[in-house]
Amino acid sequence: MFHFGLIGYPLKHSLSPVLHQAALRAAGLKGEYSLFEVPPSEADVRLPQLLATLRRGLLHGLNVTIPYKQRVMAWVDDLTDAARACGAVNTLYATRGRVVGHNTDAAGFWEDVRHRLPVVQKGPWRGLVLGAGGAARAVVYTLLKQGWPAHVVARRMEQARALAGHFQRQGLGPVHIHPWEARTDPKAPWFQRDLPVLLVNATPVGMHPHIQASPWPVEGPWPQGVVYDLVYNPRETRFIKAARRANLPAADGLGMLVWQAALAFERWTGVASRVVLPAMAQAVEQFS
Ligand SMILES: NC(=O)c1ccc[n+]([C@@H]2O[C@H](COP(=O)([O-])OP(=O)(O)OC[C@H]3O[C@@H](n4cnc5c(N)ncnc54)[C@H](OP(=O)(O)O)[C@@H]3O)[C@@H](O)[C@H]2O)c1
Repeated sequence: MFHFGLIGYPLKHSLSPVLHQAALRAAGLKGEYSLFEVPPSEADVRLPQLLATLRRGLLHGLNVTIPYKQRVMAWVDDLTDAARACGAVNTLYATRGRVVGHNTDAAGFWEDVRHRLPVVQKGPWRGLVLGAGGAARAVVYTLLKQGWPAHVVARRMEQARALAGHFQRQGLGPVHIHPWEARTDPKAPWFQRDLPVLLVNATPVGMHPHIQASPWPVEGPWPQGVVYDLVYNPRETRFIKAARRANLPAADGLGMLVWQAALAFERWTGVASRVVLPAMAQAVEQFS
């Protein structure tokens, strides 16, 4: 019997239980997935307690979401390369009595991009990321791993500088940073047509209930390339709709959500992500 769970706050609308229950069924395993909603005032006590439960083998895997993806790193014993590089943990497991912090967001993003926008596999591409928060770091890490030029546009330049510095300290980069207003500057590198562009929204702009907002001007101009929106609620954001109207292939973030969960499940159970992925995708399709 497996015991998994999710740490975060708030957790009311999480799709993780639906995803992991579908994976358990598809893998023919018995188990349960619990929500551990930890208010920030209790985090310093409850996070180390939950990790101790994992260390003792009473839990077999935990996911971590907002607002604890960075904070939880203070209590892990080891970090995988992906977690260290992204500077965030979304998956925890124990091995030989040590709690390991891992990150499946970056790999989940890349798996979904290459399956749903397969033209990117013909690289190199230029990556253009909107936003400089936690998810942007996972996306930028993916772009740098591909060896592609990575650009970040952010409304707070100090946050963009922190992101670029984080990768530079790890010998990864450079990350080119630009102010938010530079998105439509005709002289910007993403309008130069030397490389096709993978344009990624890593901000919450356009997410329910603010569905009329778009992180990119809907009337364009658009770079030549493809578009990916990390937002998955709604599936078709105003940004995605406008990109498709401009004849750019575009994908929403639900696939990344499913992939990151399937890759976490693989870490916990050893069951290959491709075995459980179709059932997980089908399960969330009904909820989106
Ligand atoms: N599909 C998936 O599997 C997946 C995985 C992870 C995240 N996500 C989604 O990705 C989005 C970002 O998540 P996150 O964890 O990176 O959040 P985060 O750490 O809070 O970062 C959000 C980023 O967006 C910027 N931003 C917010 N509102 C903005 C606005 N109106 N204009 C310009 N920039 C704005 C923020 O800038 P400020 O700091 O200045 O506000 C920050 O740079 C969320 O919608 C989340 O649901 C999806």
